[in-house]
Amino acid sequence: MSTAWFAPPRDRIAAVPGRPFELADDASYRHWREVKLQAHPRCVEDLIVDVQDPRNLSAAEHDAILERCHRSNMAIYRSAATLADKELPRRLGAQLGLQRLDANWLADEDGISQITVGTGTSEHVSQAAAYIPYTNSAIKWHTDGYYHPKARRIHAMILHCVRAAREGGENALMDHEMAYIALRDGNPAWVRALMADDAMTIPARMGEAGVARTAQSGPVFSVDAGGALHMRYTARTRSIEWKADACTREAVAFLQELLTSAVPYRFDVRLQPGMGIVAHNVLHDRRAFVDDPVRPRLLYRARYLDRLPAQAGGRG
Ligand SMILES: [Fe+2]
Repeated sequence: MSTAWFAPPRDRIAAVPGRPFELADDASYRHWREVKLQAHPRCVEDLIVDVQDPRNLSAAEHDAILERCHRSNMAIYRSAATLADKELPRRLGAQLGLQRLDANWLADEDGISQITVGTGTSEHVSQAAAYIPYTNSAIKWHTDGYYHPKARRIHAMILHCVRAAREGGENALMDHEMAYIALRDGNPAWVRALMADDAMTIPARMGEAGVARTAQSGPVFSVDAGGALHMRYTARTRSIEWKADACTREAVAFLQELLTSAVPYRFDVRLQPGMGIVAHNVLHDRRAFVDDPVRPRLLYRARYLDRLPAQAGGRG
């Protein structure tokens, strides 16, 4: 397990008072920001937790994953569990308090999506192949389920690698709270614009039988009932409508610039077999890849309506 870790303890993060994501509560924001920046990982190795078996975590492994998620909304586990086993992400999630899988219409019946290039071997492929995750193309920065209605917000996800691509397929990750800090420090009015209910609209998707998904308008940043920050975002320029005012446009341009800059809190990882990501719905992208035709890249993706529990520990 990585030993490169540092103060402050998680209790300090949990103890930040007030409502730091409210623009009117600047004192809380300043305090939260200071603690957050001090605790944030400096490099991708700080996110990594070695685990024996993701299906059966030890108490120390469990707590180490949750602690990283508390500091930076994400952790990367590394294991020798390289066999194809769709139960793995479900069992891993359940141990971490994640129960409510999102019922993606492209996921298999058990709610876990197999992210692989469409090969014609699955009944879902003809539909799935039309969607970019099921190709070998690059995917721009986004948070998961940005096109979902409010009731189906994705709060956490697990991405588990069974087979890596022959070349490419790296993910970049950025804690959405760090993007929030950059925006608020840049101009609080940008945050206000991105918290508006009509900031970002995903147009309706048309299927063969008419409207398959209605248009979804909503904020980029919102705060859930527990006080946690949620982000909806895509860097796509097609099939997305930003509110047509100057402040929203400036905020979006700033965010796009931030995500393509070499900022120290953007982490690149190439998942190897047995590795995976446990995270809240952080910003991420994927680079294009080239498959080994005999052993094509395969990732399992589980998306949850739950957040991870607020405190590490408790498993004893
Ligand atoms: Fe994604």
